[in-house]
Amino acid sequence: DSAALWGGRFAGGPSRALAALSKSTHFDWRLAALDIAGSKAHARVLRKAGLLTSDELDAMEAALDSLAGDVESGAFVPLESDEDVHTALERGLIERAGAELGGKLRAGRSRNDQIATLIRAYLREQAKEIGHLTLNVADALIGQADRAGTAIMPGRTHLQHAQPILVAHQLLAHVWPLLRDVDRLLDWDARAGRSPYGSGALAGSSLGLDPEAVALELGFDGPVENSIDGTASRDVVAEFAFVCAMLAIDLSRFAEEVIIWNTKEFGFITLADEFSTGSSIMPQKKNPDIAELTRGKAGRIIGDLTGLLATLKALPLAYNRDLQEDKEPVFDQVDTLAVLLPAIAGMIETATLNLARMAELAPQGFSLATDIAEWLVKAGVPFRNAHEISGACVRACEQRGIELWDLSDDDLAAIDPALTPQVRDVLSVEGSVASRDGVGGTAPSRVAEQLEQARDKVVEY
Ligand code: ARG
Repeated sequence: DSAALWGGRFAGGPSRALAALSKSTHFDWRLAALDIAGSKAHARVLRKAGLLTSDELDAMEAALDSLAGDVESGAFVPLESDEDVHTALERGLIERAGAELGGKLRAGRSRNDQIATLIRAYLREQAKEIGHLTLNVADALIGQADRAGTAIMPGRTHLQHAQPILVAHQLLAHVWPLLRDVDRLLDWDARAGRSPYGSGALAGSSLGLDPEAVALELGFDGPVENSIDGTASRDVVAEFAFVCAMLAIDLSRFAEEVIIWNTKEFGFITLADEFSTGSSIMPQKKNPDIAELTRGKAGRIIGDLTGLLATLKALPLAYNRDLQEDKEPVFDQVDTLAVLLPAIAGMIETATLNLARMAELAPQGFSLATDIAEWLVKAGVPFRNAHEISGACVRACEQRGIELWDLSDDDLAAIDPALTPQVRDVLSVEGSVASRDGVGGTAPSRVAEQLEQARDKVVEY
């Protein structure tokens, strides 16, 4: 007495081993409400095609509404014997509408077009939520950038001191990738917004149904162009998985900075107690676990993408059961990001940047050497020579254990006669950052400008 949707041509029910392998209710049940919405839309096109009377449609809709209520309240749940969300819900419908009417709903549709539609509908909802949570992280970074004002820190390349920059400039450099991730989710929706419902198993339906009506009712822009493609492709799911992976990577890059900044040696950031953890043995420890979990979970989220891509590779047209494996990776991404993003936002909002420590380190490591070279260029020295002369200053300082601004007038003149005492004007971090005033540069006026742009963009979404 198997409740499977395909019993007719089989002499017996599935083996326990098959049933255990095949089962997906433990992860696809989250699609139940969307499946019922799809069923209601489908019932209406069956009515339009003359395959249900209007009384039957009313009874069907009432049964589906009651089922939806029971799913929501938890009164209706899948049984051990239900293979997937569709099987369980057909059982629930038949319990409410009777076998005669309940058995009519499956006409003209297949689990293949159903599931291909549901995963898109679900991910479209989730993309909005992920976008919203990502904007909260961007907002927290923008808030810190605003509070940092014109404070200066060492900018690094290769993790070595490179040039002084505004703290706000550095923080905003983490905001823009996040805003592009939100853009990617919005762009993705144009491709996710087509409904495979009506594709049937692969070839469409002979029953005169209206895929366009179902699509619009379910909030899609329209039906897919090709029923085989609609049931067999998952590139839209993979693209969603990529955007999640890229987002996780962008968060992880920031997390790595927090971890480094939080070391005793850097001392750039102090995390709030409620967003830090302790050690079970070392009483003094205060660890940046949120940042570390961000870095760790990025690996997991990348794995979800690569696993899905591997599943899709070399699948022949049209539907194959392998495609059931498309769901857990993206569900895992969605669930992981749902806990990660609020924790990161909270960690950022409540962190204290140690601006004095950053300022102290900003001029160190000969970070003003480029300023000497560019000062020489303005005095007419070819950059090639200017680079050499400035390098000679660094070498002289390194040998004597002093900084560039410690060189005397005589020291400078001995290195090169072009180095007049006026070069000292650019040997301050304030002068250095102020001079980098092209669009996107680190000059306070430019950083203030991009802070406003970032703010506007967050508001625009
Ligand atoms: N549960 C399946 C999935 O997630 C849908 C069922 C299609 N099954 C089938 N035998 N055609 O992809």
